[in-house]
Amino acid sequence: MKKIIIGNFKMNPSSKKKASDLFKAFDIKTKNLVILCPPFCFLEKGENYILGAQNCFLKNEGAYTGEVSPKMLKDLGCKYVILGHSERREYQKENNEEINKKIKICLENKLKPVLCIGEKLGENKEEVLKNQLKECLKGIKGSVIIAYEPIWAIGTGKTCKNEDILDSYNFIKKIVKESSVLYGGSVNSKNAKQILSITDGVLVGGASINKKEFLNIIK
Ligand code: PGA
Repeated sequence: MKKIIIGNFKMNPSSKKKASDLFKAFDIKTKNLVILCPPFCFLEKGENYILGAQNCFLKNEGAYTGEVSPKMLKDLGCKYVILGHSERREYQKENNEEINKKIKICLENKLKPVLCIGEKLGENKEEVLKNQLKECLKGIKGSVIIAYEPIWAIGTGKTCKNEDILDSYNFIKKIVKESSVLYGGSVNSKNAKQILSITDGVLVGGASINKKEFLNIIK
């Protein structure tokens, strides 16, 4: 079955040229659906991958200095938008209510939201996931991809155990039956195959800006 593999470049690489290099390397035919999410300023279309963004604003236009709207992203060729990433929740203080508004406007613009949810170390996982899903998806009719990313596993090299990934996958699927559910958090070329066998896909951060690593994951 076709798996969804999302590359979240985060605030990398450091130049347009380096970003173009990555796009060229990843523009290959694969059996998977590959979605690349670079910083806004490096969005570059390709033949074999789909473009996504790492965030968007909750309005389509207006006096909102520094923001980028879903309508603009659509115009630039994006089809997906990552929303509610834990780094935005932490550094930009994004909350579920705001994320809910962003999901709504993305769907209005025919952009597919990739909603990130996940617990911090020591938190009650099921409680956190249930609450994030309830608040972020309040009143939402369209289809949304869910990315389960335990915060303690992001960028730390500590991957969640397979049985815990499967447990979370099943828990989320029970709540949002129609959604594809991905896993994210220290996915690399060594653990990707196993994780892909028990989920609908992966959201890859650090390893997505490493040519060799990411090529091995998407192949
Ligand atoms: P990581 O990041 O693969 O570097 O852990 C995943 C993410 O933040 O989406």
